Amino acid sequence: MSDRTPPATLLSDGVVALRRPEPVDGPFYWQMRNNLALVSSVMGFRLGVSAQTVDEWIARGGGVEGDDLMLTAVLVPEAHRPIGYVKAYRVDRFSRHAWIGLCLFDEQDAAHGYGRRMLTQVCDYLHDQMAIRKISLDLLATNTRALALYTSLGFVEEGRLKSQYYTGGRFEDVIILSRFLEPRS
Ligand SMILES: CC(C)(COP(=O)(O)OP(=O)(O)OC[C@H]1O[C@@H](n2cnc3c(N)ncnc32)[C@H](O)[C@@H]1OP(=O)(O)O)[C@@H](O)C(=O)NCCC(=O)NCCS
Repeated sequence: MSDRTPPATLLSDGVVALRRPEPVDGPFYWQMRNNLALVSSVMGFRLGVSAQTVDEWIARGGGVEGDDLMLTAVLVPEAHRPIGYVKAYRVDRFSRHAWIGLCLFDEQDAAHGYGRRMLTQVCDYLHDQMAIRKISLDLLATNTRALALYTSLGFVEEGRLKSQYYTGGRFEDVIILSRFLEPRS
C-alpha cells in the first residue's frame, strides 16, 4: 500500500466511510479527547490524555472487546479526512441489543449531515450483519442537536436519569433513547 492509499473502509455511503482506527487518526482523537467541551458533551473522560495514550489505544484497536465496534468516520471526497467516530458497545448477541455513541472531532463539521450518515450506516450494519434488534444511547438532555438527530431517526425516550452528570457548574439530566429495528424476515 502506498502512502497515498487510504486504509480500507468497512462501510461507506460514498460521502462518509467508516473504518477501524488507524495510527494516522491519532492527532484527531488526541485533540478531541483534550477538548473539554466536546468530551463533556459525550460524557467522556475529562482529565485529558497524552498522544502516547491515544497511540496505544489505537494500537489496541480502539479498546474494543468481543463484538463491539469502534470506527473512525472519514470524509471520502476530502481524501478520507477523519471527521469523527462512532462506536457500538456492550453488544449483546443473545438479547440482540447494543449501545452506541458518536462524536465529530470538530464543530466546523457539524450540521452537514455527517452524523446522520454515520448513525444510519452503523445502525444498518448492526441490523443487517449482526441481527441486532434494539439500539440504545444516552445523552445530555441539553444536547438539542444530538436529540434532534436521534429522534428523526426513530429513537424514542425510554428513561431519564435526573441530575446525573456534572458539567459547566451544574448537574444535568441524562436521557436514554432507544430504537427498535425492523424485525428480520
Ligand atoms: C451530535 C452530532 C453527532 C450530530 O451530528 P451532525 O453531523 O452535526 O448532525 P447532522 O448534520 O447529521 O444533523 C442531524 C439533524 O440535527 C438537527 N440539527 C442540526 N444542527 C442543529 C442545531 N444547531 N440545533 C438543533 N438541531 C440541529 C437537524 O434536525 C438535522 O436534521 P436534518 O438533517 O434533517 O437537517 C454532532 O454534532 C457532534 O458530534 N456533536 C458533538 C458531540 C456530541 O454531542 N455527540 C453526541 C453525544 S450523545
